[in-house]
Amino acid sequence: MTHDENRSAFDWEARFIDGNTPWERGALHPAFEAWQHQSAFAAGDRALIPGCGRSPELLALAQAGLAVTGADLSGTAMAWQRKLFADAGQQVELITGDVFDWQPQQALDLVYEQTFLCAIHPRLRTRYEEALARWLKPGGRLYALFMQKPERGGPPFDCALDAMRALFPAERWTWPAEADIQPWPHPQLNGKAELGAVLIRR
Ligand SMILES: C[S@@+](CC[C@H](N)C(=O)[O-])C[C@H]1O[C@@H](n2cnc3c(N)ncnc32)[C@H](O)[C@@H]1O
Repeated sequence: MTHDENRSAFDWEARFIDGNTPWERGALHPAFEAWQHQSAFAAGDRALIPGCGRSPELLALAQAGLAVTGADLSGTAMAWQRKLFADAGQQVELITGDVFDWQPQQALDLVYEQTFLCAIHPRLRTRYEEALARWLKPGGRLYALFMQKPERGGPPFDCALDAMRALFPAERWTWPAEADIQPWPHPQLNGKAELGAVLIRR
C-alpha cells in the first residue's frame, strides 16, 4: 500500500463535516493542562501540533506565547482553527495538507502529539518518527499521548508501550522514568487510556 492509499483510506474531512469526531474532548486535555502547570510550554518556544484537527491546545499554546504551527489534511478543521485564532487575535501558521511534506525553517522546541499517531496507519509510524526527529532540535520535547486500545484495527490504532519503545528507540529519544508515564482515560472512546509521556530528542 502506498502512502497516498493510506491517506485516503480514512476520510477525516467527512468526519469533520458530519460532526462525527468522538476523539474530541471539547476542552483542553488534562495531560496538557498538567504539563502547562509544570511550565512545560515557555513563551517563545516553537511548537507543532501534527494532525491538529480542532484541537484547542493549539490556541492555548499561542496564548501562552509560543510560535505555533498546526497541520491537518482537513480543510474544514483548518477553517475552524483559522476562525478561532482570528477571533482570539492570535498568530498561527496553519498548514492544510500532509504534515509529512512539511519542514520547519528552524528546528522546533516541541511537538504536542494527541490522537495523531493512533490515527495514522501503522505503516506510516516509522515515517512519523523520522519526521519528528527531523523537526525537533536536539533537546526538543515530544509531548505524547499514546492511545491504549487492546482491540485490533483502527483508527484509533493501538500505541502499546512496547511498540512505542521500539518506534522511539533509546539511541534517538530519552524516555521518562516508568513512574512518569501517566494514564489519562478518554471521556469518550469507551474510556480508553492515553499514556502521557515526554520524550526528549537526543
Ligand atoms: C483523530 S483526529 C485528531 C485531531 C486532533 N489531534 C485532536 O486531538 O482533536 C486525527 C487527525 O489527523 C489528521 N491527519 C491524518 N493524517 C494526516 C496527515 N498525513 N497529515 C496531516 N493531518 C493528518 C486528520 O485529518 C485528523 O484531523
